[in-house]
Amino acid sequence: MTDAPGGRPLSEPPGDRPLSELRRLADGHLRAGDPTGWFEPLYAAAGDGRAEVPWDVPTASAHLRAYPLPPGGGRRALVVGCGPGRDAEHVAAAGYATTAFDISPTAIDLARSRHPDSTVTYVVADLLDPPTTWARSFDLVLESNNVQALPRSIRATAIARVGTFVAPGGTLLVLAAAAITGEDDGPPWPLTRAEIDAFAGDGLRLVSVDRVDAPDSRLHARWRAVLERS
Ligand SMILES: C[S@@+](CC[C@H](N)C(=O)[O-])C[C@H]1O[C@@H](n2cnc3c(N)ncnc32)[C@H](O)[C@@H]1O
Repeated sequence: MTDAPGGRPLSEPPGDRPLSELRRLADGHLRAGDPTGWFEPLYAAAGDGRAEVPWDVPTASAHLRAYPLPPGGGRRALVVGCGPGRDAEHVAAAGYATTAFDISPTAIDLARSRHPDSTVTYVVADLLDPPTTWARSFDLVLESNNVQALPRSIRATAIARVGTFVAPGGTLLVLAAAAITGEDDGPPWPLTRAEIDAFAGDGLRLVSVDRVDAPDSRLHARWRAVLERS
């Protein structure tokens, strides 16, 4: 299967870029029981030229660009784990009043400085402990490549939190690497089909799930899931 224009399979970071420094940083924090503590030092190290942030590329995710976002018309969108803002800017350009958040203050600083004329509201926030005012408040929620960067121990919590942001009548778009054989040498740890299904519940209904082949990527395959709250 493919969703690329012209039938070409899609591939994109982090599957195709070096992960060694990222994994070295992540391993230390994961072993210390701090599964989200490595993102800020990674962004900071990248700022000093000591590391590379594999997903920090100028263009929006190929998988987001391939998805026909309905025109926002001023409706509210939330971009989870936005990093330096590549996908948030794409969502805002489609006409959404967009809020985008990341746990890393350096990533949010980068997003603001790279997009000085942006309409996006960039916020430092933790998916695992989000502002209560965000509950059921967004017409579009984008979760792209973030849950897969979190270890399985906190994944159920992260997945449940993502769903809480979707307003009645709203849509959740999940874009993620797809697990083939239960790969354990993350991050990233690709999502299983059961983990995709877990985004549903508490009023969220799975509308479609596509598995997209990405044969030229280290991660081989990806999910695109669309959910709605009635
Ligand atoms: C693999 S990156 C993907 C970034 C972005 N979604 C993209 O595709 O370009 C994961 C992002 O999630 C952020 N993140 C990790 N844990 C988070 C949490 N608990 N709350 C908010 N952001 C988080 C990281 O700082 C990082 O920017």
